[in-house]
Amino acid sequence: MDTYMAAPVRVGATARDRYSSVAIGLHWLIAAGIAFQILLGWRMQDFEGFSRAVLLQIHKSVGITILLLTVGRLVWRLLNPPPPHASSLTPLERVLSHGVHLAFYAALLALPLTGWALSSVGRPGGMTLFGFAPWPAFPLLSLLPGGVQDSLSDLFDNSHTTLVWVMLALLALHLLGALKHHFLSRDPTLARMAPGARPGFVLEPRLIAIPVIVVALTAAVDLPRPPTAPVRPRPRNLASADVYLDIVGPALEKRCASCHSDDEARGGLSVSSFASLMQGGSSGPVVRPGDPQASELIRRVNLPHDNAKYMPKDGKPPLGVDAIAGIAAWIRIGAPATGRVGALKLSDAQRAALQAAFDTAVGGDAAPTGLPKSEPLPTVPPGDPAAIKALEADNFVVRKVVADSNMLDAGFSGRTPLTDADLANLTKLSPQLLRLDLRRSGLMDASMKTIGQFPHLRVLRLQDVQVTDTGVAQLAGLKDLRELSLVDTKITDGVLGKLGDLPRLSALYVWNTGVTPAALDKFKEAHKAIQVAAGLKPADVPKETKIMTPAN
Ligand code: HEC
Repeated sequence: MDTYMAAPVRVGATARDRYSSVAIGLHWLIAAGIAFQILLGWRMQDFEGFSRAVLLQIHKSVGITILLLTVGRLVWRLLNPPPPHASSLTPLERVLSHGVHLAFYAALLALPLTGWALSSVGRPGGMTLFGFAPWPAFPLLSLLPGGVQDSLSDLFDNSHTTLVWVMLALLALHLLGALKHHFLSRDPTLARMAPGARPGFVLEPRLIAIPVIVVALTAAVDLPRPPTAPVRPRPRNLASADVYLDIVGPALEKRCASCHSDDEARGGLSVSSFASLMQGGSSGPVVRPGDPQASELIRRVNLPHDNAKYMPKDGKPPLGVDAIAGIAAWIRIGAPATGRVGALKLSDAQRAALQAAFDTAVGGDAAPTGLPKSEPLPTVPPGDPAAIKALEADNFVVRKVVADSNMLDAGFSGRTPLTDADLANLTKLSPQLLRLDLRRSGLMDASMKTIGQFPHLRVLRLQDVQVTDTGVAQLAGLKDLRELSLVDTKITDGVLGKLGDLPRLSALYVWNTGVTPAALDKFKEAHKAIQVAAGLKPADVPKETKIMTPAN
């Protein structure tokens, strides 16, 4: 051993043509770890809440193990240089192989490091590997201010995801290279790492072992089934339901826990329990008992959906208006940890809000906005395919609201203004349109009369368009409208009366308009059933809302 270490040059000379047993062992252990992580990552999408937390623990444990094995492998490699390449390799192949391996080592270190850092921001303390081995938090991160940690958490998250794709690409190159040498060039490249593999031969026991191990790992990853959750007995009606345990808690668990659990507390916030929720996030409490408007949680979910601070992040399914109204009512009455609704002192509006939240929470999947579960959709013939096609060709996304109905959801995402042809095509689909999103479409008052005649419209988003009070007044005929966004428009107090007359309106968004706080207070007083998006006092308008409003 001594002579071997002292004179590495002689390794080639003595024609050692394979890696050392330690290097081979580490290589295959790391390979198994990567295969496991990839399969687990895939599975993790299917889980929420408790079981996701368990899978995440396993993922972190294996990730840190891969980090340690990789460091071990690198140290070993420095002390024990690898065997020379097969002599048949061209210089280009050598360079490529070298590049892929270097990138591999970089990714093998960077992936666990970004994961470790990600799970260390926003929360003090370390983790426990495999349920028993303590592992510290990433050094120094917890000393940074909360705001910096928040931005870093995004950075780590994005790099971790990007690195997964880099790793998959490298893996593909690595595998293709190994297979090419084994089957096409028939040189001993693979055999250097898989001793006994005979170049060109498929039926080689040790090679068969590889797919077998991968399949076994897949099966193992498939084992952790969601545990049968400790279900609370389903309350029969609103009065017998618990305001937090049956309504607020489940709503947050469903829509927020994938990023805000005890295990993965993005922004330092966990909604796993009442206690952790009330503890707040890295920037302080998110619930101010008695004051929904001042509660960060309510502010975040009411922001325009394209705001960087809007929750849930990353286009995840949002809380429905019903759930938001229910949570706001719960905060208004003091955010109790528990309490039978029937025994609470509630205003009519609060009871209605909790009823709606209860209906969606207990009725299974929270209904998408504007679509209370209990209410049937209008029955209409299918929309004109030519009109749909023309709209799709002009920056519209047109989708069915649910699979078994002809009702449609249309959203505009273009950069140039809506054309007369677009409006004509929308009119052709007017019986089918349930949701219409015309944000930044350059819509003018002149077109509002047409839209005001769409009979089944329930959700209308008109953020940042050119309409004024005159145009909005034309919406008075929308008897079924539930949700209206007029954020960033020129509307003023004068139009509020007309909006109050919309018989079904339950959510109104009027950020950043000419509406004054005084008029809005009056409006809220007169229309308690309408949830109005908060923060109209200039000081309340978050900076980022203004920054986010594009010039076009
Ligand atoms: C896809 C991941 C994701 C989902 C889902 C998600 N959030 Fe967040 N949330 C984040 C991240 C990342 C941060 C930290 C960055 C920031 O503050 O914007 C954060 C921060 C927050 C904060 C600020 C915490 C603080 O003190 O700074 C609140 C409040 C919040 N989220 C509420 C919610 C609510 C309510 C939901 C469910 C409707 C939700 N989030 C769903 C990723 C998510």
